[in-house]
Parts: sequence; C-alpha cells; structure tokens
Amino acid sequence: MHSGWTEWTARSRNRIIFVSILSILFVFFIYHNMEDPEILQASPRMINFKPKPVFSQRIVHLDLKGAPPKPSFYEKFFPLLKEIGITSVLMEYEDMFPYWGKLSMLKTKNAYDSHTIAHIQNLAHKNSLEIIPLVQTFGHMEFVLKHLEFSSLREVPEKTDTICPSDENSIQLIHEMLAQIRQLHPNVSSIHIGADEAWNIAKDERCFQKLHKIFHNSEERLKLSHISRVAKYAKDELKFDRVYGWNDMFSSIDSKLLKEYDLGRLLVPVVWGYAPDVTIDGYFPYGMFQRYSQVYTFNV
Ligand SMILES: *[C@@H]1O[C@H](CO)[C@@H](O)[C@H](O)[C@H]1NC(C)=O
Repeated sequence: MHSGWTEWTARSRNRIIFVSILSILFVFFIYHNMEDPEILQASPRMINFKPKPVFSQRIVHLDLKGAPPKPSFYEKFFPLLKEIGITSVLMEYEDMFPYWGKLSMLKTKNAYDSHTIAHIQNLAHKNSLEIIPLVQTFGHMEFVLKHLEFSSLREVPEKTDTICPSDENSIQLIHEMLAQIRQLHPNVSSIHIGADEAWNIAKDERCFQKLHKIFHNSEERLKLSHISRVAKYAKDELKFDRVYGWNDMFSSIDSKLLKEYDLGRLLVPVVWGYAPDVTIDGYFPYGMFQRYSQVYTFNV
C-alpha cells in the first residue's frame, strides 16, 4: 500500500507539473500575441492573424485522483479551455466515477453522481469540447486493487498497481468498469484504456504458467494479448469508434507482432513523456516511430 501511495503521488505530481508547463506555454503564447508591438503595429490583416495550430487535436488531461474539481468549477474552466484552443478533455475519473452494483466500493465518498457526469458532458458540448473518458485497465489500478474484494486480482499480492491479466475475473471486472463508463457516456466516440506502467507482469503463478504455456515465454505477447483484448471489447462491444492507450508497454515491440494483435485497428497509441524536450535522441526507444508507421497510417 505504501509504495502504491508513493508511486501515486509521484505520478500525480508529474502530471501536475506537465499541465503547469502547458499552462505556462499557453500564457506565454497569449501574452506574446497581445503585446508584441510588431503584431500590434502591423496591418489590420495581421492583427486578426491567428496562427494555424500545429496539432489538429489539443487534449487536456484531467486526473481527478486526490483533488477533484467541484462540479461548478467546470462552468468556468471549460469556456477557458475553449478560448485557448483546446479541442478535447481526457477525463480520468478514477474513484470520482459513480460506479454501482458490484463495483460500488470503487467510488469515493465525494464521487460525482450520474447527474454531474451528464452535466460535465453538457458543459463540454456547449464549449465544443469532446469528452474522452480514461479508465485504467492494466497498471495504475490502485484505486481498484487496494480493496480487499479485488485484492486476489493483483498480479503481485503486496502491490496494488497491476492487475493479473491471466485471471478471467480480471477481465470481467474490466468489462464491467468499461460498460458502466459507456452507460453514462452514451454519446462519446472515444475512450482511453490507460495501460501505462504495468510493471509487475508475469510474476504471479497464474501469469507465469500462461506465459509459459500459451505465450511461449513472450512477455510481449502477454502484454499485447491483454491490451488488444480490452481494446477489442471497447471497440466492438461498447461501440467506441476510437480507443486510445498509453504506448509505453509496447514502445519497443516489433511491428510484426503489433500487426499480429491487430493494434493498427484496435488502438491509437498515445506517446507520452515528461521531458521538456522529447525529441532528444534516445528519449523514446530506438525506431519506435518507424515501427508505428508500419502499423498505422497517419493523416497529416
Ligand atoms: C446524448 O445525446 C442526446 C441526444 O442529443 C441528448 O438528449 C443527451 O442529453 C446526451 N447525453 C449526454 C449524457 O450527454
């Protein structure tokens, strides 16, 4: 539990730093455009000049663990996001989602209710923002696996981060979580299934046996099998048009294997990093973008 907590706060802190850096960049950008005398003294055509954004989608990730905003906050926050050119909000509800039935213990005391979830989507719609719910389905499942009821699904008994993908009960649990998210987001077209930093894999006896018998000792196959299976459920059963996932669990895997697990159809990889300059040689595994380009066709 303690190490789970430390990882949790470190990750939250990193996310907060990341968002803060983004905010600073945005503030600088706005200031620069408003105050630059060259722009102000330029022709009227130039004053109205708005630079074409580099990326067609600009997504803000809200990680609600720890310090979730009050529902009323979104009324001010979403118009601001719209104003600065954001197109989508990635909502990592974690324990703030009103899970019910078998999953009711997953929601925290001050979790949003279903009306709030609908209200947030309404506000997003009014501000032309797409909502993308994020549910962790591999690593970072502390908010699920910390509960005694689900502790048997931990990959390593004393660690609450990674779920055992070889246990059918894990799959049932993940399906139920995704289905409840879908039920309260009937109109969204995309979902994010997380799946970053699932470090404790093939350590439990169940996984180890499966790794040996089914996957011929390939951890890569074990990971891809789980990720693609969850993505397939989200896409084919729950009818999400687009399924995102963090990419670090398969950033070094050969493109042949990615194709074998149909990742090109099932999952959009979200490449992530916290370094100020992610283009530094060697920051991402060597050849990663080349491998992805063999699996994905990019529309630029
Ligand atoms: C989904 O769309 C329908 C039809 O436009 C609308 O009535 C409903 O409020 C929307 N639901 C949510 C949760 O956004």
